[in-house]
Amino acid sequence: LQVSATADVCVVIPAAGLGERLGLNQPKAFVAIKNWSLLSLSIKRVLEIERVGHLIVAAPSNFKEESLSHIDRAIREVGRKIPFDVVEGGETRTDSVKNSLLVLDQLDRFVLVHDAARPFVPKQVFENVIEKLDQGAKVVIPVIPVSDTIKTVENSKVVNTLDRAKLKAVQTPQGFAREVLSEIYATSDLKPTTDDAGLAELAGISVTTVEGSVESFKITTAFDLELAIDFFNRKISK
Ligand code: C5P
Repeated sequence: LQVSATADVCVVIPAAGLGERLGLNQPKAFVAIKNWSLLSLSIKRVLEIERVGHLIVAAPSNFKEESLSHIDRAIREVGRKIPFDVVEGGETRTDSVKNSLLVLDQLDRFVLVHDAARPFVPKQVFENVIEKLDQGAKVVIPVIPVSDTIKTVENSKVVNTLDRAKLKAVQTPQGFAREVLSEIYATSDLKPTTDDAGLAELAGISVTTVEGSVESFKITTAFDLELAIDFFNRKISK
């Protein structure tokens, strides 16, 4: 096992969601596209980033063994082995990330949290996030412009329209200086947020954005999965 001295980035993959909106009878991260689970596709991408020296996967309690085999397979496919841990996820994504942080290693200088549900994130997005952390930013998130107009709606009635020019869609990997992430997750009244940077914002920590990618779309619905299968087929036929 070779770990280079500069591989100081740990990637946490929360993969413990049940994927109810996808409507299949298995947790979303374990749904496969051409025999590769979303989890293993995400792990393959992560292993390609040389700065990454530690991987933590948060899995549903009865999927820990299976996660190990998905990690193994990705390692064999990419031909790069790094230290890894599988932890039990929690009821919310926030709980799953919190459990993951218990097994951080001393060598982990930066922690990137990446959804298993975004298997096609380009390497460049990881590099954008790591570059900003290297420059001293404490919390970094990839964003893309919003193409739809977004309105606040209550009981089928429009409340107001947000200024699209100021809106961004937020993706992962979300990057953190390790102490900052540990600190925001250590608060006792931890509120479940839909992303990790949300906790930093609540704690008054400034969050820096970098360019994300349309390829890093999140697979949530059955239609997203259809798009993902087409996208994957197009990629491998090139
Ligand atoms: O449900 P959603 O798509 O927002 O989930 C984003 C990511 O968080 C997924 O990769 C999912 O597996 C993970 N998650 C988790 N634990 C939960 C809920 C979601 O690890 N309790």
